[in-house]
Amino acid sequence: MREYPDLAAAITAALPTRRFGRALRVYDRVASTNDVARDLADAGAAEGTAVLALEQTRGRGRRGRAWISPRGGIYLSVVTKPSLPQEQWALIGYAVAVGAAVAAESAAGVRMRLKWPNDLMVDDGKVGGILAEAWGTIAVAGIGMNANVATETLGPGAASFPLDDAGWVSLVRAILCEAERHYDVLQSDPRHLLDAWRARSMTLGRRVIVTGAVEAEGLAEDVAEDGALLVRTDAGLLRVLAGDVTVRNTADTRR
Ligand code: BTN
Repeated sequence: MREYPDLAAAITAALPTRRFGRALRVYDRVASTNDVARDLADAGAAEGTAVLALEQTRGRGRRGRAWISPRGGIYLSVVTKPSLPQEQWALIGYAVAVGAAVAAESAAGVRMRLKWPNDLMVDDGKVGGILAEAWGTIAVAGIGMNANVATETLGPGAASFPLDDAGWVSLVRAILCEAERHYDVLQSDPRHLLDAWRARSMTLGRRVIVTGAVEAEGLAEDVAEDGALLVRTDAGLLRVLAGDVTVRNTADTRR
């Protein structure tokens, strides 16, 4: 794995974070930054240790999917050691998603909204996502963003946005800052973090189709304190803890 210490130093120079990215490893190409971060965490790396790659050969998405990771995009993983009750660990992905969306807007001028649970969307196209993987007392939050990627090479429904080299570095720095800020909000006041997620949500108040372990259709009413999506169906209120939602492309908000 070819490593770029100079690029890491340029990103971390004057980075105003306390933990996220203070230790940063930048690689040309890895299988998955989540795996490298996991190995570092198992070897005792501090909270906030981050791994960034220009390319991934076996990037992973949620629910066992592949995350196509050609050059141009951002592939970043951060080691966290949350002091949260286990039932709220799903919210780590929410905190990082809100942080990534805020960062994209401030550093790249790209307005992103969130599709439950933590897809980063521009209009109806998915431009990024978060994969949080936990074991023991550690969780690694992986962020993928499709910048500069030819959309034909990505799966259906995926989108990308343009970013020059300086913009790429600025956006990585902004993601580290905003992800840390929202992770701190989560740890001090999970309800406040959920409000920030709600404010960027494109799912709530919309009619959705739920797929995965549970299949249903209804109105996405809210998110619960553990991150479950609350969907009002004909059979009652459904708590969806894992799965995918498709937002119906209508203004129809009936159950
Ligand atoms: C999703 O399915 O929406 C989540 C995608 C997460 C992709 C990122 S890229 C960096 C990190 N390394 C991985 O293998 N996956 C995550």
